[in-house]
Amino acid sequence: MTAHDPADAPLPLSARRSGPLSGAARVPGDKSISHRALMMGALAVGRTTVEGLLEGEDVLRTAQAMRQMGAAVERGADGVWRIDGVGVGGLAEPADVIDMGNAGTGARLVMGLVATHPMVACFTGDASLRGRPMKRVIAPLSLFGAAFMAREGGRLPLALKGNGAAGPVTYTVPVASAQVKSAVLLAGLNASGVTTVIEPVATRDHTERMLRGFGAELTVEIAADGARTISLVGQPTLKPCRVVVPADPSSAAFPAVAALIVPGSEIRLEAVGTNPLRFGLFETLLEMGADIALENPREVAGEPVADLRVRASALAGVSVPPERAPAMIDEYPILAVAAACARGETRMRGLAELRVKESNRFDAVVNGLAACGATVRAEGDDIVVTGAGAPPRGGATIAANLDHRIAMAFLVLGMAAAEPVAIDDVRAVDTSFPGFADLMTRLGADLS
Ligand code: S3P
Repeated sequence: MTAHDPADAPLPLSARRSGPLSGAARVPGDKSISHRALMMGALAVGRTTVEGLLEGEDVLRTAQAMRQMGAAVERGADGVWRIDGVGVGGLAEPADVIDMGNAGTGARLVMGLVATHPMVACFTGDASLRGRPMKRVIAPLSLFGAAFMAREGGRLPLALKGNGAAGPVTYTVPVASAQVKSAVLLAGLNASGVTTVIEPVATRDHTERMLRGFGAELTVEIAADGARTISLVGQPTLKPCRVVVPADPSSAAFPAVAALIVPGSEIRLEAVGTNPLRFGLFETLLEMGADIALENPREVAGEPVADLRVRASALAGVSVPPERAPAMIDEYPILAVAAACARGETRMRGLAELRVKESNRFDAVVNGLAACGATVRAEGDDIVVTGAGAPPRGGATIAANLDHRIAMAFLVLGMAAAEPVAIDDVRAVDTSFPGFADLMTRLGADLS
């Protein structure tokens, strides 16, 4: 028998109805951009620096994976990360299993890199990641000549044998997924010739922006129906960059909605990424009548950012079109919380992808809101929330199921509900938003 390790013990947290939130805060760096900066830095020739990197569990796993494949990745005492890259084609075979923890983006994108390098790599992750579908990357990466041996259903752990002599691939992404698109583009980096990815629906374009920033030859054609054809010339010499990571709009979403639903609040969130392909939540909140102002808009290292001023607001229900889903895919749990406090019906359409995130977020949102006394129903792939113009009762304990965003969304609900909302284990929050509880407490939230 092994002794009980307190570090393995669940860490519960509950949120109570809070007084007005106020003050300024900067949420941690963007998770999507942080993963990509580490990977492209590892493939550049020379030293890349990254300021504002998200130092959350997911991104630290990617840093470790890049070290395992031969790049030097270090955090300076000044908080700046320095990456000495090995050049496209120069990654080394990892001597041990790559453990990506909870990180779906990290796992899928690193598989893209390995797919066109002559090496064998084994991937695993936590119970959440081991349950997530990998066939969506196995299929296109196999077209480059990579070979996979995975568990039933294409799940981790899996072994991947890359093909160091891969030719280019043309691939149409069957589900709207920036991870799949990016895995193919990253594999295309070390294939000869021009790799082309067609996405019928636009998804976040951080990979494309950053590849260009690192000097790759990449073109994007946008058709009349919005479909994008992205072409990348393989085997470029990537030049090192200075990357400045914006604050993550997906993390800013939590204090922003908290300020909207806690009466009397006014907060300011600094240097938040406003890339239109990430901004669907804020667009939706504005349609609901939210008082959110974008101040001092500017561009930093190829990405648009602004400061957000958010004031408590009376929200009204809206219908969220399915084509907006890719621009706010991670924000539905917190939008559902806002909808539960709004007046009238909010219909969130086309949410099939929510079932294959860090947990089944579709069910977690419906069941969690119902447990908190909200009026909510599932209709096919839609979630419909009917709010009474005031927060639901609260008074429930929600299982986080290793899902950071479910944990944070329900804690925000607890800040406005009459009765406290508890989360059974908030440790997963560190994957994307280390310091969440401290930051919210500084703004005035009552967490214990
Ligand atoms: C991400 C893409 C999205 C998102 C994830 C981050 C990325 O996943 O949910 O949190 O950085 O490319 P999908 O590509 O599966 O939609």
